[in-house]
Formats: sequence, structure tokens, C-alpha cells
Amino acid sequence: MAALIASFLLAFSLLLVGVNALMVDYYAETCPGVEEAVEEAVKKATANDNTVPAALLRMHFHDCFIRGCDGSVLVDSQGNNTAEKDGPPNISLHAFYVIDNAKKAVEELCPGVVSCADILALAARDAVAISGGPIWEVPTGRKDGKISRASDTSQLPAPTFNFSQLKQSFSQRGLSTGNLVALSGGHTLGFAHCSSFQNRIHNFDATDDVDPSMNPAFADSLRKACPAHNKVRSAGSAMDSTNTVFDNTYYKLLLQGKGLFSSDEALLTHRKTMELVARFADSQKAFERAFVKAMIRMSSLTGGDGVRLDCRVVT
Ligand code: HEM
Ligand SMILES: *[C@@H]1O[C@H](CO)[C@@H](O)[C@H](O)[C@H]1NC(C)=O
Ligand SMILES: *[C@@H]1O[C@H](CO)[C@@H](O)[C@H](O)[C@H]1NC(C)=O
Ligand SMILES: *[C@@H]1O[C@H](CO)[C@@H](O)[C@H](O)[C@H]1NC(C)=O
Repeated sequence: MAALIASFLLAFSLLLVGVNALMVDYYAETCPGVEEAVEEAVKKATANDNTVPAALLRMHFHDCFIRGCDGSVLVDSQGNNTAEKDGPPNISLHAFYVIDNAKKAVEELCPGVVSCADILALAARDAVAISGGPIWEVPTGRKDGKISRASDTSQLPAPTFNFSQLKQSFSQRGLSTGNLVALSGGHTLGFAHCSSFQNRIHNFDATDDVDPSMNPAFADSLRKACPAHNKVRSAGSAMDSTNTVFDNTYYKLLLQGKGLFSSDEALLTHRKTMELVARFADSQKAFERAFVKAMIRMSSLTGGDGVRLDCRVVT
């Protein structure tokens, strides 16, 4: 009976591989140590540099929004091809070495088995958990793609987007406005450069220099950090006041007019999304539940068809 069940499960899992469907413990037989190896690499890097978790979370988001989660964000430019990571909104992308290190460890355990896309998805989960956020089981079985183009980055949502643009960008990828509100909570971690919110603090529109929906003291502090013709490339602002902790402070600040981007503020322009912001501001647990659900959905957008040996190089 057990053998029958086992062979049924095997047949079933092969069927799933065929359609590139994801499952928890996909590597249980082929690479049992993969999740520990990735976690180890993320922990080690974070101990040296507390900006690593934010970088990994954003990297995974970029990966999934362009050609599905296929590791395309990890590829280096080569020859006449300018890769995704060298496209315009790459200013905060960093810590690619963490994925390189994880991949190296995983290749030693089980050569040629685990995709770079899966390693990044696992690393993003670990990044959230390490920062005090929820931990969840990540379905794996993603494949790596062969295409990575700088021009594709125009498909990413911009921080200047209004609600209808955000809604369209997410719904094109099967993500709801509820998912949009929950995933925007990723902005509880990390740092933004001046260029990402410049539109709100200088020359906002014909009547206002500063976006009137912003808390004035908050706007003032951003204008100090980012003067009109800012030349300091590294200047900017923490995403929220506790930007190495995965908590619901982002939503609390948003309700006080202290959201950083127009795209954050846009969540308050519709009743349903505004109510969700209020709920997440009120309850860390509600935020975490919704975030996990939305992350699993976003990270199930698959695309590739192979397993790269070096995450930076398409062969
Ligand atoms: C809703 C649409 C989104 C827009 C328009 C957006 C835009 C941005 C921008 C402009 C930055 C700052 C880049 C810079 O100035 O350095 C940023 C940072 C960040 N975003 Fe988003 N984002 C969105 C959704 C997401 C999602 C879904 C996640 C993950 C769940 C995410 C996670 C992050 C993180 C962690 C950072 C900080 C990165 C770092 O410090 O290295 N964002 N985002
Ligand atoms: C880019 O390089 C590849 C080979 O390295 C070549 O096949 C292709 O034609 C080149 N494309 C352009 C637009 O130059
Ligand atoms: C971002 O793109 C610029 C050119 O557009 C490139 O010089 C730089 O290395 C890229 N940054 C990263 C982290 O890839
Ligand atoms: C959102 O932005 C788009 C593009 O700029 C614009 O066409 C649209 O009218 C805007 N929607 C709202 C509700 O402001």
C-alpha cells in the first residue's frame, strides 16, 4: 500500500514537473539541503550588512514582475546584451553576491539541480523571516530563463504611478488590489534614493510645490535630505522609521501622510484599499497573513525552462 502511494506520488510529481508547477519540498529527493544552504548564505551576509534583506526582497519582486520568476534579474550584461539589472530603475538593486554564494553552496550539494530563480525566492523568504517578519513554506520548482533585457524594466511599476496604473500592473500578473496593498508592505524594509520621490517634494504640480497629501514636517525633512538639484547620489530616505524590521510601521506612517512614494500614497485613494491599509496598520498579524498569501502568489509567476549553473550567465 505504501509503495502504491509512493509511486502514485512520484507519478504525480513528475506530472507537475512537466507543467512547471511548483510544490513545497520540490527538492526533497534531489537536493534535501537546499533550503538550509540558502538560509545560511542569507544569514551570513546579513550579519555583515543589514541592507541585504531589503535588497533580496526587492530583487525577487523585480524578477517575478519581468518574464515571471525566472532569475532574469540575476543575469549580467554580456556582449551586445544589456541585462535587466543594468536597466534604468536599478539604483537600489544590490547584494547579488548573496545569491552567488548561495548558488555556489547549493551546486556543491547537488550540481545542476536547483534553479537560480528558486534560490532567489527562498532567499527573499529568509530575508523577511530574518527581519522579524513571518516565515512560510515556499513552493519551489521554478526554472531559469534565457532572456534578460534592460528594456524590459519599463514593465515595472514606477513610484509615480497612480492607483489605476498600479492596479493594472498587478492585475496583468494575476494579482489583486488586496495583493497590491499587502505587497506594498515590503516597503517596511530598506532605503529609497531621492529620485524615487522627487516628484512629490519639488514642482509637484501647477499649484503645489509639495504634494499636499504629505505631512508637512515629513515633506520638509525629505526636502532637506533631497534638495531640488540634489547631486549626492547616495542621498535619500529610509523606507520607514524601522527599516531593518519587517513590521507594519509602513502602514501606520502611510495613514499619517508619511508614505514615501506617490505609489504608496495611491493606496489611500480608494475606499477598499484604504480600509486594508487601516487594517494592516492596526494588526501586524493581519498584515503578515495577507503578505504571505500575496508573496506565494507573486512568486508563483513562473517563466523559465532550465537551470543555470552560474546565475549571472546564460549558456
Ligand atoms: C507597488 C509597486 C511598487 C513600486 C512602484 C515600487 C517602487 C520602489 C522604489 C522606487 C524603490 C526605491 C528604489 C530606490 O530609490 O533606491 C523601492 C524599494 C523597495 N521596494 Fe518597492 N515598489 C513596489 C512594490 C514592491 C514590492 C511588491 C516589494 C516586495 C514585496 C517591494 C520591495 C521593496 C524593497 C524591500 C525596497 C527597498 C530596497 C533596498 O533598500 O535595497 N516593492 N520600491
Ligand atoms: C549580438 O550578438 C550575438 C552573438 O554574440 C549575435 O548573434 C547578434 O546578432 C548580435 N545582435 C546585434 C543586434 O548586434
Ligand atoms: C545600473 O545601471 C547602470 C547603467 O545603466 C550600471 O552602470 C550599473 O552597474 C547598474 N547597477 C547595478 C547594481 O547593476
Ligand atoms: C493615472 O495616470 C494615467 C497616466 O498618467 C492617467 O492617464 C490617468 O488619468 C490617471 N488616473 C487618475 C485617476 O488620475
